[in-house]
Amino acid sequence: MSLTNCTIHVTQRQERTIYLTSELAKELNLSNTRSVHLHLGGKSVITALRLLKKQGHHLYVPLSVMAQLRIPHLGSSMITCSNGKDLRIGPLIGILTSVTGSNSAPFGSRTSFLREFMRVGTNKSYYFGFSPRDVNWTQQTVTGVFPGKEGGWYRKTVPLPDVVYNRLPSRKAEKLVSMNAFKHRFVQRKIPLFNWAFFEKWDIYNLLKDSETFRYVPESHINPSSQQIKDMLERHRFIYLKPTGGSLGIGIYRLTYSPKRGYFARFRRSGKNVLLRFSQFQQLMTMLHRNSGRLRHYVAQQGIRLIEIDNCPIDFRFHLTKNSSNDWVVAGIGAKKAGRGSITTHVRTGGQLMTPEQVLEEIFGSRADQVLANAKEAAIKLAETIEQNGKHLLGELGFDIGIDQNEQIWMFEANSKPGRSIFKHPALKKEGKAALKYVYDYCLYLSRFRARRDS
Ligand SMILES: Nc1ncnc2c1ncn2[C@@H]1O[C@H](COP(=O)(O)OP(=O)(O)O)[C@@H](O)[C@H]1O
Ligand SMILES: [Mg+2]
Repeated sequence: MSLTNCTIHVTQRQERTIYLTSELAKELNLSNTRSVHLHLGGKSVITALRLLKKQGHHLYVPLSVMAQLRIPHLGSSMITCSNGKDLRIGPLIGILTSVTGSNSAPFGSRTSFLREFMRVGTNKSYYFGFSPRDVNWTQQTVTGVFPGKEGGWYRKTVPLPDVVYNRLPSRKAEKLVSMNAFKHRFVQRKIPLFNWAFFEKWDIYNLLKDSETFRYVPESHINPSSQQIKDMLERHRFIYLKPTGGSLGIGIYRLTYSPKRGYFARFRRSGKNVLLRFSQFQQLMTMLHRNSGRLRHYVAQQGIRLIEIDNCPIDFRFHLTKNSSNDWVVAGIGAKKAGRGSITTHVRTGGQLMTPEQVLEEIFGSRADQVLANAKEAAIKLAETIEQNGKHLLGELGFDIGIDQNEQIWMFEANSKPGRSIFKHPALKKEGKAALKYVYDYCLYLSRFRARRDS
């Protein structure tokens, strides 16, 4: 396979012929070829090919071909030819998300993140954001939102993309049968779509159950019975109750049992941390509405005694991505110190972002490097297992990982659409950029704009 960059120009000539500079043709092994299929995303046209005795990597395309292929703009792009016949420009990378009517922020609060992602492959790839209603399956086109060169955004209709990066923001919308069917239409057309849907905590538990990585998962039960809760409290002294499809710490309870003083429940209500005490176990169950089915979508999880600084528990966000070789890498790690009195480490409840080195050196001293290396290894294994046991392509993952006082590593949660708040830490800005680059490289891998091991 040959792959290089080229500059695309338009020619006013009428005939359906493209012109390549001889240098470019040589690089693509097309010096003796007279006709090719030129592809962009899902569209292609057959054209004659002529060589131009000119230096550099240039491709001249007649207007009719530009229009048929719906090439979104002139300028630089990658170009690849694998078989002496199919010439592909692109890749055309589509980001599936929700699109608002606004011109300045077409992707709502995700706009600046997506703009940053689209900047990574500027002058090499075509990027656009789109929502499900922007796809016209009959014509096999998408009307996407493209980043303007001087800022701003514009809409353009292009072929179906080479690869789809799923960043749909709504759990509820993503669960609809119609959304599932929509995503399957890409798969049926052999268009890779990665990060299929939000994860649920209980699904991840089941994916890991029979694997070597199960030792990193605290004991958990879905829709726990009163007896199970009581049992777990006796064995572990404290447990977490978490909505299986929840996020941001919303709806979480931390239950504690003290043989002398009874049962305690900690949670957050109306922006405040609440602590309730019950002398009877049944009173606790009544408060949780266990009998009216309120815990049906809850997971009860063994509480882990996390490492602490100033009496505040600390856990870690491991941001993992695939790279251009389809391998998992730990792109960045943030340490999160819980706000005082908070049962979770989220920044919105007073949590503080730190670097893992800062925290681990304070707690483990000279063992810090080893502890971090062990946690990274665990995270990579967890990612590999989730991907292998899951049904869909995965390019990015955010793990909430705890380390206890015995250096044991625990995974609380896997996020398939991880936020990027850890990269706001000044010491993690570089990692934030690297994470975007890895996702871009994975797009190149999936769209075959990189040599693939399996091809
Ligand atoms: N089993 C547990 N033991 C100790 N702390 C936990 C446990 N489960 C969750 N936590 C704390 O609560 C936070 C939120 O839990 P998580 O499972 O990530 O739910 P969410 O989806 O709401 O983010 C974790 O980052 C961690 O600080
Ligand atoms: Mg979490």
